[in-house]
Amino acid sequence: MVSILRSQQPLKAASRTLTSHSRPICRSCSRRSTPIDQRRTISSYGYEQAKALVYSKYGEPQDVLSLHGHSISPAAGTNVVLRMLVAPINPADVNQIQGVYPSKPEMNTALGTSEPAAVAGNEGVAEVISTGSGVKTLSKGDWVIMKSTGMGTWRTHMAIDESKLLKIDDKEGLTPLQVGTVSVNPCTAYRMLLDSAKWGFRGDEWFIQNGANSGVGRAAIQLGKEWGFKSINVIRGREDKEEEQKLKQDLYDIGATKVITEEELMSREIRDQIKEWTHGGREQIKVGLNCVGGKPATALAKFLSPEATMVTYGAMSKQPLMLPASLLIFKEISFTGFWVSKWSDRHPDQKKQTVDDVLRLTREGKFKDIPVQECKWGWKTELDTLRSAVQGTLGGFRPGKGVFVFEKT
Ligand SMILES: NC(=O)c1ccc[n+]([C@@H]2O[C@H](COP(=O)([O-])OP(=O)(O)OC[C@H]3O[C@@H](n4cnc5c(N)ncnc54)[C@H](OP(=O)(O)O)[C@@H]3O)[C@@H](O)[C@H]2O)c1
Repeated sequence: MVSILRSQQPLKAASRTLTSHSRPICRSCSRRSTPIDQRRTISSYGYEQAKALVYSKYGEPQDVLSLHGHSISPAAGTNVVLRMLVAPINPADVNQIQGVYPSKPEMNTALGTSEPAAVAGNEGVAEVISTGSGVKTLSKGDWVIMKSTGMGTWRTHMAIDESKLLKIDDKEGLTPLQVGTVSVNPCTAYRMLLDSAKWGFRGDEWFIQNGANSGVGRAAIQLGKEWGFKSINVIRGREDKEEEQKLKQDLYDIGATKVITEEELMSREIRDQIKEWTHGGREQIKVGLNCVGGKPATALAKFLSPEATMVTYGAMSKQPLMLPASLLIFKEISFTGFWVSKWSDRHPDQKKQTVDDVLRLTREGKFKDIPVQECKWGWKTELDTLRSAVQGTLGGFRPGKGVFVFEKT
């Protein structure tokens, strides 16, 4: 993950704070600082007013996030100024704010905060609103996503070097939500599935996954269907059985072959059931995807075919992964992990191809939108509204992923 310091350095010269503590003098606004909740029109000098969700210490989002107002000077050199359109709230974003994520953004005062701070958020889509004279690859109106994570996407605007951005070559037929959520979950599912086995693409191969209703899980189901892979999808059961049935149906509707609950996965009957589905094991379960851990992950691993691969990419239950030695010794199953941040830093070209391919499938109607809970972010949106949208993320049993949808400010 790229450090926030690196990503924000261009802002150092470009940003002026609008919070009362530093009272900047802005050439364009009659030497008055602007209260954070009042919108000022862009001056003839082209300064853009911006707000960012920042944190100066680790902790629960509701305790440490604050809304920081500042202004961004006109784009110069190879810098562009962006207006964010959509930014999702992923579990890792919250872990990062809590300080329990391996990549920790460097905190600095580039935005004029009184204490060193980092802007939260790692994913999203933005529109280019102005370009410096040295910018070669981007124009006003283009849509861009971040090349790497760690850029701090939970903000209305940002100034950033063009080299850190990936241009969406063809935004026709796409919504900001589709583009703003393409680079983390779909890319993770795409690479884990495709790169973890030698697939024959004959329509008789399987994968099994838990957290199947997550953003990654839903992406894996749809990509698997596109590539002819059958899937066994494990979800957590619901107290309300009607709700559980509806969730199962949701996943069947996007291409799941089988959907079972964790309870069903750990039942006695499931072994015979899976044997029947896979024609006595002649159809191999080649890949397991695990973002849960604990007992359900152990149970899942036992259904993998010999020489299969299990990829762990999350630990939502916060329980350790326990594996019977026999799976390694006698079944020769490989256990590995995947981290999209590292992958995108190592393989920028592959990232572009993967994003383009998912967006192609989206345009063709083969990759459906994830269910979301929108949090509209306008100029007057209160800090509390933004913070509570973030705070609920790790709660579980949610109807959809939280996303900030930015209004034109
Ligand atoms: N390694 C990587 O590169 C990478 C990339 C993307 C995502 N991830 C990880 O993948 C996981 C899913 O991310 P996402 O963005 O796809 O999630 P998401 O759309 O926000 O959905 C969260 C998922 O986690 C499940 N969940 C929540 N609490 C749980 C618990 N205590 N026990 C079991 N399951 C629980 C939810 O199931 P319910 O509906 O039953 O609550 C839901 O399926 C996270 O751990 C995330 O950090 C990793």
